[in-house]
Amino acid sequence: MSQHSIEVTVNGEAVRAEVEARRTLGDFLRIDAGRTGLHLGCEHGVCGACTVMVDGLAVRSCLMLAVQANGRDVVTVEGLAHADGTLHPAQQAMKDEYGLQCGFCTPGIVMTLAALTADGARPTEAALRDALSGHLCRCTGYQGILRAARRLAQGTAA
Ligand code: FES
Ligand code: FES
Repeated sequence: MSQHSIEVTVNGEAVRAEVEARRTLGDFLRIDAGRTGLHLGCEHGVCGACTVMVDGLAVRSCLMLAVQANGRDVVTVEGLAHADGTLHPAQQAMKDEYGLQCGFCTPGIVMTLAALTADGARPTEAALRDALSGHLCRCTGYQGILRAARRLAQGTAA
């Protein structure tokens, strides 16, 4: 199997690796880059747990190949909080609104909400529901997640 040299900016840090063409971005991030905050659930684009940001857009890392991320800017959930530990507003809103229980789905949901509300964007209720429909959560019943999403969309999250 041929190997490819890639360099990906992960949470502001250059990560270089030799990867097989078939390696997914999700596996690259967890195994090669050591960013285990993203979770791999279904591994075929259904659950949303593996969502990260690539060049500012929410992407399912199980559906993107590592070689496709070569030269791009990737942010995982570890890259959201400030160095002093202050949470990103999407994280804070999920915490404050009890949007998580076991936490398996949470990194993906946080990344989707962060991408959706980046640069002060105020998505509509329909857009929030549409984006969250791509995330499976077996624990919460979604009400806390929706409250967190609405707070973010209204710009009232910390
Ligand atoms: S692991 Fe990627 S969508 Fe489920
Ligand atoms: S909090 Fe457990 S799957 Fe969502």
